[in-house]
Amino acid sequence: MITAVVYSESGGTYKTTMTANVAVALERMELNTLVLDLDPQEGNLTSLFDAGEHRSDPDADNLVKHILDMPDGEFHDLIETTEEGVDIIPSHDMLGDFTSNLEQKISYETGMKNMSREEYPRFELLHELLWKKQELHKEYDAILIDPNARAEDLLYNAIFALRTLVAPVKPAGKGNLSLEGLEELVGNMENQLDIEIGLSCVVPSGVGQTNAHQQYQQQFENTEEFATPVSIGNRESLMDAMWEARGSAFKVVEERWKTFEKDGQMVSEPGQRRVRDREVETLRRLYELAWFIATTTFDADIDPVLELDIQGHTNRTIDLKEDDKTEATTA
Ligand SMILES: Nc1ncnc2c1ncn2[C@@H]1O[C@H](COP(=O)(O)OP(=O)(O)OP(=O)(O)O)[C@@H](O)[C@H]1O
Ligand SMILES: [Mg+2]
Repeated sequence: MITAVVYSESGGTYKTTMTANVAVALERMELNTLVLDLDPQEGNLTSLFDAGEHRSDPDADNLVKHILDMPDGEFHDLIETTEEGVDIIPSHDMLGDFTSNLEQKISYETGMKNMSREEYPRFELLHELLWKKQELHKEYDAILIDPNARAEDLLYNAIFALRTLVAPVKPAGKGNLSLEGLEELVGNMENQLDIEIGLSCVVPSGVGQTNAHQQYQQQFENTEEFATPVSIGNRESLMDAMWEARGSAFKVVEERWKTFEKDGQMVSEPGQRRVRDREVETLRRLYELAWFIATTTFDADIDPVLELDIQGHTNRTIDLKEDDKTEATTA
């Protein structure tokens, strides 16, 4: 079972983009993959995958109700299947009030049971739901979480349930600081909860051609403290098109989605994008990232062949085993 929280201390480090791309890569490796969107804000994984029709309806059943053990329906009715085959439990506005709802539940239950608030296992609820109640390990090969940005109850529940982190960082001074913050968070949680948390890898993302970016990338790649299997270049056009294609970077390239001006308006359409080698290279790296997580971190047995069926082009096959790695400096 592959389980990972895509987490970074700072906002906007391309977590949501990476979660979507890794999830689709795992699914393409024939691993049955589920993503949980714990971020209630706009521009989350749920909107990227065009899911969560009822996310603003306070009466609709949602993940929070299930985490708090007050469901309004079947757990499996929360799960939607996206066009690329990845399953998603979408976000809901109630995720934004998780802590206050949790506090109420704790008050009620500790009052009933004559238990102290400190004794209440407030970070273990998602773990209980996913593995004990729903036994999702019997159904899925991989589960990823795109957590909410703030370090609070929901994030701790996510980490407690999945135990492994994948950390995208931006190539900047702040990237180093966010890694220190990450280590601190991991250390604190391990002590407080008496569990072990693993860092699968760090992924420098949005790496541009400037000297500063290249140097930061080298710094990340040369350290022994953590693995950096790949870095992802600055691919704004490709990744931004994901939000129009409502899917992964694989979908953008295969269906050739492009945003452009037409009669004075910006439109996005499939069948328009040029096939660029550097974008195909980025897909290879995303696939390699998923492969690393699946095999090096989790010991899965996978044939690492990426088939790209690009509209109007002959199919491309990229075998990661045969590929002599083009050095990361071409980012
Ligand atoms: N490798 C990349 N290079 C350049 N831009 C990128 C890259 N990956 C993603 N982006 C773009 O950066 C923006 C932010 O990405 P994303 O939403 O994934 O970040 P996030 O870490 O989830 O943000 P938040 O902290 O708000 O949840 C998006 O518009 C996305 O298209
Ligand atoms: Mg996000």
